[in-house]
Amino acid sequence: HTVEWDAEATGKSGYDHFMLKEIHEQPRALRQCLQGRVDELGGRVSLDLDLDVERVQFVACGTSYHAALYGAALFRAAGVPAQAFFAHEYAVATPPIEDDLVVGVSQSGETADTLSALREARGRGARTLAVTNVVGSTMARECDDALYIRSGPEIGVAASKTFSAQLAALNLLALHTVGAGDDDRREVIAALRDLPGDVQALLDDTDAEAVAREYVDSDGFFFIGRDKSHPVALEGALKLKEISYAHAEGFPAGELKHGTLALVTEDTPVFAVVTGDGEAARKTIGNVKEVEARGAPVVAVTDGESDVARYADHVLEVPETHARTAAVLANIQLQLVAYHVANELGRSIDKPRNLAKSVTVE
Ligand code: G6P
Repeated sequence: HTVEWDAEATGKSGYDHFMLKEIHEQPRALRQCLQGRVDELGGRVSLDLDLDVERVQFVACGTSYHAALYGAALFRAAGVPAQAFFAHEYAVATPPIEDDLVVGVSQSGETADTLSALREARGRGARTLAVTNVVGSTMARECDDALYIRSGPEIGVAASKTFSAQLAALNLLALHTVGAGDDDRREVIAALRDLPGDVQALLDDTDAEAVAREYVDSDGFFFIGRDKSHPVALEGALKLKEISYAHAEGFPAGELKHGTLALVTEDTPVFAVVTGDGEAARKTIGNVKEVEARGAPVVAVTDGESDVARYADHVLEVPETHARTAAVLANIQLQLVAYHVANELGRSIDKPRNLAKSVTVE
């Protein structure tokens, strides 16, 4: 069965849908997540967690799994072995656990698959941590520790503000326990501090609705990205599927040529998430050229640091920021595209068919 929220009491505050309201609540959700946890002057993060982290396994489902992929990348960047697993796979084919902290990422804290995975891990002696939005949820109670993302209640079935807050919280967790690795800690902290304002700037000036109108009748949608943009590509596709019922697929950009390229036509827009101007950006631009040569329209979601715009039919810009926070911003452009496509199609955005906010059966 499903977890019920008192939707009417919360109100849509003039927005057509809870999802659009929640997309616009992201500056506040992020501020709440970061409040009192980052000390910019000292370059420090303080969480009420005393953890000695040597290795990490993340378990999660759906949107939270995409956050887990991103979180695992942050730990690996700090030299710590970390991997994200689908919770339902982990529960039936549990990987070896050696001093791993097992982190359940779950908005609701009630997802049955994720609870099972964490119970399995605990049974095998792992220390467990819940990264969740819901204080007092089953996951928060059963795990050894909890880190709250503090987004406030989310009514829309498709996660929006809670995903952004999960990414912010996972940054805090990594900084607090293992540091920033090769990234400059102070730069990451400054980017987190600026993130709520950057999200507001993006929301105040975005072409996502125009892009959605242009491509609403497409045969299918592809989303590509590398490294930290990979989970963003996956989440962009999932959001579009969930609320518009369009066929969409997201994958790491390098995988495109190993099959999916056969599906690329002039009726399948490709959304390329390209941030920074490093190796990952350069290689994804190579993939953009491949799809462009097949006539596919390209929408670049970018911070403008690379020259991807030269190869794109449309550009969805994100404010200049750190590579870590760029993922949060790029994803918000894709949330808006999904929302506007679904809205053009007249879908039941807040309650998509067949889906539940919280899946409490395995
Ligand atoms: C359901 C929801 C998804 C969500 C997933 C995991 O399938 O429809 O939006 O991402 O559960 O939920 P959780 O509460 O564990 O993050």
